[in-house]
Amino acid sequence: MSQPTRSAGGRHNIVVLISGSGSNLQSIIDNTQNGNIADTTISCVLSNKADAFGLQRARQANIPTHVIDHRQFPDRVSFDQQMIQAIDSYNPELVILAGFMRILSEEFVTHYSGRLLNIHPSLLPKYKGLHTHRRALEDKQAKHGASVHYVTPELDSGAIIMQAQVDVLDGDDEEQLAARVLQQEHRLYPTVVEMVLRQQITLVGDHVLIDGDQLEQPLLLTDDLCVTG
Ligand code: GRF
Repeated sequence: MSQPTRSAGGRHNIVVLISGSGSNLQSIIDNTQNGNIADTTISCVLSNKADAFGLQRARQANIPTHVIDHRQFPDRVSFDQQMIQAIDSYNPELVILAGFMRILSEEFVTHYSGRLLNIHPSLLPKYKGLHTHRRALEDKQAKHGASVHYVTPELDSGAIIMQAQVDVLDGDDEEQLAARVLQQEHRLYPTVVEMVLRQQITLVGDHVLIDGDQLEQPLLLTDDLCVTG
């Protein structure tokens, strides 16, 4: 299993994959620029959608962008091969899925095993897949939130690193709840990215280690852990 290693230039080098608004991308851009994610360059932002607003955010930050339209490929594997080629030309330590709305092939996931992260808007293992906020409200959950996890071939099922929780409030609708979760995502993802790049968090087999000790349960984002201030 490949673990992230620093590039020859001494800076960390990451690639971010998006499909939409890219507010998580923005938070990672901001936190690399202000040093909360230290010594790190986002070497490329890749989208499967040409009109993803996140591409504008990347261009604004002078980050190279690539669009690889999945509709131009006969199947998932050939699309993923094209993405691997584009991503590997940057030789990143970490590949970060930030609202990338395509299911990835086993080949892709295996290729980046141990250095592929995703953020999912629920307290996994609850509510894998879509409409997480709606489903949490329907189930009258008291707590909801977001999780950052290593990616494995099975959707939203890889080892969970850290979660951010929000209270579900009386009268919350889907939009209000989603907005509060998203605010937490913007604190959660940079925190995990920084800890993984520092190798404070590692993956050994299926187990997440923090400072070399196996995590028995996902970390919970607290003000102490959070890098975004
Ligand atoms: C976030 O809710 C993330 O958890 C999910 O997709 C959404 C992306 O939002 N995977 P944005 O594009 O980062 O604003």
